[in-house]
Amino acid sequence: TPADRLNGKHILVTAGPTHEPIDPVRYIANRSSGRQGFAIAEALARLGARVTLVSGPVALPTPTGVTRLDVETAREMAEAVAAALPADAAVMVAAVGDWHAAAAPQKLKKGETPPTLVLSENPDILATLARSPQRPKLVVGFAAETERVIEHATAKRLRKGADWIVANDVSGDVMGGEANTVHLVTADGVEDWERLPKAEVARRLAARIADAL
Ligand code: C5P
Repeated sequence: TPADRLNGKHILVTAGPTHEPIDPVRYIANRSSGRQGFAIAEALARLGARVTLVSGPVALPTPTGVTRLDVETAREMAEAVAAALPADAAVMVAAVGDWHAAAAPQKLKKGETPPTLVLSENPDILATLARSPQRPKLVVGFAAETERVIEHATAKRLRKGADWIVANDVSGDVMGGEANTVHLVTADGVEDWERLPKAEVARRLAARIADAL
């Protein structure tokens, strides 16, 4: 039955933004509501999977039957993902910050010259997982693009070592919105899905993951 298609499978999902502190009261963030990732975690749990959802700071309830781990920074997210292994599949939906700042220990004060942020690269959680000895059988990444969506997503799939990339065009009103237009990029090619509610994108993707596992 649909409710037990993923019985016995452990699936890791990342969702939401990361917050990278600048000082104790300020941070750099990505624009992400977490809705698509939470919907995917919920859809996978409904198919019977054991789901670990590693979430950045979002204002969303935990879906029923999902184990949620809250993190703030990309480095914390990377640690939580590594600690949650092994998994049969991973769906990396989080909008992870590419850089963190050398955070000031005290609140920065306004002065004559604005402070300079010194940025360092964050770990790429997806690429690291896809090349780890504990690589899940199926690794799915997301690619939010504002132009040349398919081209960038196809390159990203290979560069990061993911099996699938779910590409979405975020030049419109996707961020925080209810609907999403995505393209599923696999080794076999590209499928264009029609504009769908995020919950329906999640259900379809969960069904495809069940087929693949
Ligand atoms: O390179 P870009 O950020 O566009 O890649 C997006 C994909 O990579 C998403 O699946 C995202 O969750 C993942 N990612 C990650 N760690 C990063 C950056 C992105 O897991 N540091």
